[in-house]
Amino acid sequence: MPDLFEPVNIGKWTLPNRIVMAPMTRTRATPDGLPNEHAATYYRQRATAGLIITEGVQPSAVGQGYPNTPGLHTPEQVDGWRAVADAVHAAGGLIVAQLMHAGRIAHPDNKHGQETVAPSAVAAEGTMGTASGKQPYPTPRALTTDELPQVVDEFRRAARAAVDAGLDGVELHGANGYLLHQFLAPTTNQRTDGYGGSPAARARFVVEAVTAAAQEIGPERVGLRISPANGANGLVEDDPAETAATYRALVDAIAPLGLAFLHLSIDPADPLLADLSARFGGPVIVNTGFASVTDRDTAQTLVRSGKAAAVAVGRPFIANPDLVRRWRESAPLNEVDQSTVYGGGAPGYIDYPTLG
Ligand SMILES: Cc1cc2nc3c(=O)[nH]c(=O)nc-3n(C[C@H](O)[C@H](O)[C@H](O)COP(=O)(O)O)c2cc1C
Repeated sequence: MPDLFEPVNIGKWTLPNRIVMAPMTRTRATPDGLPNEHAATYYRQRATAGLIITEGVQPSAVGQGYPNTPGLHTPEQVDGWRAVADAVHAAGGLIVAQLMHAGRIAHPDNKHGQETVAPSAVAAEGTMGTASGKQPYPTPRALTTDELPQVVDEFRRAARAAVDAGLDGVELHGANGYLLHQFLAPTTNQRTDGYGGSPAARARFVVEAVTAAAQEIGPERVGLRISPANGANGLVEDDPAETAATYRALVDAIAPLGLAFLHLSIDPADPLLADLSARFGGPVIVNTGFASVTDRDTAQTLVRSGKAAAVAVGRPFIANPDLVRRWRESAPLNEVDQSTVYGGGAPGYIDYPTLG
């Protein structure tokens, strides 16, 4: 029976354990999208994770959604990530960048006036934080068909930039209501140009982006994160048959690529987990979603049952850099200070204590 604390081969890598650090935005990057002075320390402190998936990283200036998130589209950003990669590798860890294009979950004030784009001109309901307070989500400009290859190319170039920076690979963010997820869902994708309409057509842009990244740096260094029907950021997938058909079309199309992993943020009881895992055929990383904080027993059960090759763990890693050791020794955990999750400097970022 596989065990959470045993190694596993995923893509190019042998993970020393099956506890993956889930991607978590911390909005501490410089205004130019460079990882800040503490980022290398933050990730190095967590290098005993089997694999680190970074916070969402924009593949282009337009792709930024929130203030102070890092990018991978300028030479200076590549240099910034090189310091992070070197620090994690010196500590024996593995780290891939999560490529996150926010699509409509973005505001020009958060990205030096850059416009907001999405599959269709459908605004998210509600407001988002900006430097001047909460503002309504803007109505995005629908990407033209002619532009789509450029956006695919942004993912391709960012994947190359990640490898140039010495990172071990990339995960494309197809979850939680951001650009790729907006293509998958019928409410946010009302296109009539071959990239919308049917499940396979809605999956097409995601397939093209993943394929481009895989061709650029090798499929064994590329993963994809999806979260069928999770409803984050106002995304609606409320027709279970349509949702299942869309994700089946997506996974069937990417399965032949031989990607490193498929990362599902999903209720483990959802039958789509087994269905999509079987279709994918390669290693599956599971995250149980936002509803409850991942705990050790849940993670171990997922691995022992064979549902997950590895488990992605988010919030516990914020406050416990040595989470793997703590779980192995069933030691008590530090609590997350909610006031320092987003933004700020070292406090709540690199000052959580380790055991002993
Ligand atoms: C502060 C914070 C930031 C997050 N940022 C991202 C992100 O950038 N990309 C992403 O895919 N998920 C993001 N997530 C979701 C986590 O990856 C994970 O799915 C979620 O926290 C649930 O897992 P957990 O119970 O282990 O925390 C974020 C979660 C938190 C708490």
